[in-house]
Amino acid sequence: MRDALKRRAAEAAVALVQPGMVVGLGFGSTAIWAVRRIGALVAAGALPGVAGVPCAEATAALARELGIPLVSLDDVDAVDLTIDGADEVDPQLNLIKGGGGALLREKMVAQASRRVAIVVDDAKCSPTLGSHFALPIEVVPFGWRATARFITGLGAAVALRERADGTPFATDQGNLILDCRFPPLQDPAGLATTLERRAGIVEHGLFLGLASDLFVAGEDGVRHIQRPEDLPEGR
Ligand code: A5P
Repeated sequence: MRDALKRRAAEAAVALVQPGMVVGLGFGSTAIWAVRRIGALVAAGALPGVAGVPCAEATAALARELGIPLVSLDDVDAVDLTIDGADEVDPQLNLIKGGGGALLREKMVAQASRRVAIVVDDAKCSPTLGSHFALPIEVVPFGWRATARFITGLGAAVALRERADGTPFATDQGNLILDCRFPPLQDPAGLATTLERRAGIVEHGLFLGLASDLFVAGEDGVRHIQRPEDLPEGR
């Protein structure tokens, strides 16, 4: 059921893709539906000139399989549109991301994008970020316990992300992920600044002011919400 909603949200966002665009290809069980749909359109010849910038190695592998031409972020001046999922979305279209561990590349691609469409099922909507999902924070392996203690001091319960076999999860950059359960975040921007000042923290999963469009799928269909013009951009 949730998977059907994810698919509907993702496929609705693909309607924004035009021939010739450079498209950021997100990662996760929702964004993957957008990659599949783009792949089908490319195969049908409906999106000539489209090139994808993958946010994760796994996305790149799927896109290659589907025949979507790929370019690297270094090869383009800008990404026209990125389609990606999220773990939690607030009413201002601020996000928590990183459940799949690809948050660093996802944020780099989003910051390089003219338009960022986030695709979710309605269970991801939340009045206040942190109400449902622990904040993923990517840290370098060196001194990670000291970094974890710093984050604990900010009021979070911190857990090192592990694979099913009990070994530490490693990101595409070879870093670690700390899943940090804070109380609902009354000041996400303040927390983002504090985290960004700390050496050892590579990136955090707060995506503030980056999403331009939200596609939310629920029982009653897909709603497309655009970010109000007067909200500051996070790029
Ligand atoms: C990947 O690192 C994440 O940011 C995903 O976009 C996020 O976790 C949403 O994933 P699902 O679509 O699988 O819920």
